Amino acid sequence: MAKQLSGAGLRGQVAGKTALSTVGVSGSGLTYRGYDVKDLANNCQFEEVAHLILKGKLPNERELSEYKQRLKSLRSLPQPLKEVLERIPKDAHPMDVMRTGCSVLGNLEGEQNFDQQQDATERMLATFPGIICYWYRFTHDGVRIDENTDDDSIGGHFLHLLHGEKPKQLHEDVMHVSLILYAEHEFNASTFTARVCASTLSDIHSCITGAIGSLRGPLHGGANEAAMDMIEDFTSPEHAEKEMMGKLERKEKIMGFGHAVYSDSDPRNEIIKQWSKKLSEDVGDDVLYAVSERCEEVMWREKKLFCNADFFHASAYNFMGIPTKLFTPIFVMSRLTGWAAHVMEQRADNRIIRPSAEYTGEELRPVPPMHERD
Ligand code: COA
Repeated sequence: MAKQLSGAGLRGQVAGKTALSTVGVSGSGLTYRGYDVKDLANNCQFEEVAHLILKGKLPNERELSEYKQRLKSLRSLPQPLKEVLERIPKDAHPMDVMRTGCSVLGNLEGEQNFDQQQDATERMLATFPGIICYWYRFTHDGVRIDENTDDDSIGGHFLHLLHGEKPKQLHEDVMHVSLILYAEHEFNASTFTARVCASTLSDIHSCITGAIGSLRGPLHGGANEAAMDMIEDFTSPEHAEKEMMGKLERKEKIMGFGHAVYSDSDPRNEIIKQWSKKLSEDVGDDVLYAVSERCEEVMWREKKLFCNADFFHASAYNFMGIPTKLFTPIFVMSRLTGWAAHVMEQRADNRIIRPSAEYTGEELRPVPPMHERD
């Protein structure tokens, strides 16, 4: 039975069923189809987890190799899509580029029926890195990149397209972890958007396009970019402490902290934090990681607020040379798996999602004639 509405934002309300993940219930706090996210991040590649989420099982060696091969073969962008990407201005928000890219793909290769949902998802998984990098490199560097690389993984492929060279192993490893951590998270705002859209029996590209729009906001996916904008202004841990105290006094919201479901820690933080530290050592950084740790200490000491998945992602991505404005599109490349799996789950047992609202407006009244209106 559904819980009673316990406040604004549907907080605490059970809004449907899922077999895909649990948040704040078992294991370290986040599980995908019964596997702890920590276990997955420590032992798997992203493509294994995508296979798990989308197809219901961890692939064996042959299945993984075939899956990766298939994803690799689907990377080419249709020419009309490239032409659209070239027309999007340089100063557009990259999430708007993702949204448009996904939507155009739906125009060119839309689902004819729901039997094509896995194929359509694989095509999006394969092309999303190319969509963002093609636009970024064209508008920022004036080059038309070849969107096909021979990289084995989606994360490696993305870094290769972005930097124009094969990524080092450490960076590819971090991308696997990062994409795994972001892949699925129960009924978060963007996933719920996708499910509402799916419940009308709409096409999968519409569901994913809508989800991208929800993820764009700074209270959701945009938090890692906002966290980066903040920490890069801090020149030392002491400076960070002083500024953070000021922000808290002014009651500013600090991005990358707090969570709607977790109450005392986000299991994803511990994992990405370790990798951020490794990357910091690798690049010889002696500011950004220390600043990030100090922010974490201050927020916990002063407000008992903890870092969510986004906070140490900011420094980790920065150490890999990823421009801040591309952080949230990486989230899209990963969360696409969760969104699509939720669309499939919704379709398999569908009833249109149509809640009710508590009316707070005017009492019933007649339409006044025109001459009596103000
Ligand atoms: N910085 C400062 N204060 C924060 C905060 C933050 N990041 N997150 C929560 N708080 C405060 C709230 O203002 C609130 O204080 P109040 O009771 O005095 O009003 C209190 O902590 C309780 O938090 P609440 O607003 O109930 O949490 P929520 O469930 O509504 O919101 C988030 C959850 C994630 C939207 C919220 O923590 C937030 O905005 N975080 C920053 C954005 C972010 O990192 N998003 C990514 C999420 S993965």
